[in-house]
Amino acid sequence: MTAKDFLDTNDFTKDQLLDMIELSRVLKRCVKAGYFPELLRHKALGMIFQQVSTRTRLSFEGAMADLGGDAQFYAPGTIQLGGHETIEDSARVMGRLLDVIMARVDRHEDIVELAKYAQVPVINGMSDYNHPTQEMGDLLTMIEHLPEGKRIENCKMVFVGDATQVCVSEMFICSKMGMDFVQYGPEGHQIREDLLAIGRKNCEESGGSVTVTDNREEAMRDADFVYTDVWYGLYDKELSKDERMAIFYPTYQVTPELMDMAAPDAKFMHCLPASRGEEVTDAVIDGPQSICWDEAENRKHSIRGLLAWFCPQAEVDEPEADDAREQLNYLLEGLGKQGVPTA
Ligand code: CP
Repeated sequence: MTAKDFLDTNDFTKDQLLDMIELSRVLKRCVKAGYFPELLRHKALGMIFQQVSTRTRLSFEGAMADLGGDAQFYAPGTIQLGGHETIEDSARVMGRLLDVIMARVDRHEDIVELAKYAQVPVINGMSDYNHPTQEMGDLLTMIEHLPEGKRIENCKMVFVGDATQVCVSEMFICSKMGMDFVQYGPEGHQIREDLLAIGRKNCEESGGSVTVTDNREEAMRDADFVYTDVWYGLYDKELSKDERMAIFYPTYQVTPELMDMAAPDAKFMHCLPASRGEEVTDAVIDGPQSICWDEAENRKHSIRGLLAWFCPQAEVDEPEADDAREQLNYLLEGLGKQGVPTA
C-alpha cells in the first residue's frame, strides 16, 4: 500500500521510490523503442500552475499523451484554488472531473489541503517547501550516470549555493537513498534545522549522511555529483538580486576550478532554468561533465512512471457497458442517427 498522493518523497520508503524509478526506466525503454503503452487511456490529468514552468508542464503533458491520456493546462490565475471558492470545494469538484491532478503552488499547505479533499491522486509539481518530481528525475539521472563500480548509496552529492526548495529536495532524496549529501552555502542561507532533522532521520534508516558547511574543501572532496540552483528564485523575494549576488558571487559559482575539487569524473547537475554567469559558468554547464540536459529529459521519463504508478487505470463493467450501449442504440435509432457497434 502506498499513499494516494505524491506530495513528498518522505512519505515513501526507499524501496517504493526505487520501484517507481524502475517503472519509469522500463516505460522509458518502451517509448525509446517506439512502443507507447496506453495505460491511461481515457484518463484526464489537470495541471494547476500558480507559477510559470517549462520542464514540468511539458513533461506532464507529454507523459500523459504517451500513456494515451489527456492533460489539461490551467495557467497561473485561470483556475480557482482558494479565494472566493475554498480549496476544499475546488478539490471536491476537480476530483469529480479529473482522474489525477498535478499542482505547482505558492504555499505547500495549499497542495496538502487539495490532496485531502480531492478523491483522486494529487502530484506536487513544486511548492515553496519541496520539488519531489524533480527529485525523481534527478534520481533516475544519477542512476544512469553512476561512477564506475559505485552504487547509488556509495555516492556523494554536493549542493552549491542557496538553500532553495530544490536544495532541500535533493537532501531528502539523497538521504533516502543512503548517499552522503552536503550543502556548501553561506551562513544565513543554509538548510533550516527542522528540515535537516528530516534528512538525518532518513539517514538513520539508510546509512547516509547530511552535512551543511561553508568549507569549500570539505564540501567538494570526493563529490560524485555537483548540483546548483539559481540564487534568485520564485519564492524568496526578501533580498534583491543585487543583494543576493553580493552574498553568493563569486564564492558559490560553479566554475571549472570548483569542479576540479570534486571527484575526477564528477558530474554537474542543475534543475534548470539556469542563470548563466551567476550560479554556473558556460564552461561548466556546456562542458563534458554536465548531465543537466539528460536531467531535463528525465523529468518526462520519471513523470511517466509516476503517472502510471499513481493514476488508477480505466476499468470497464462489461455487462453494464453492454446494456448502456443497447439503450444508446435504441435512442440513436429513434433520432434517426447511426448506432454504435455492439460487442
Ligand atoms: N526544473 C523545473 O521545475 O523547471 P520548470 O520550472 O521549467 O518546470
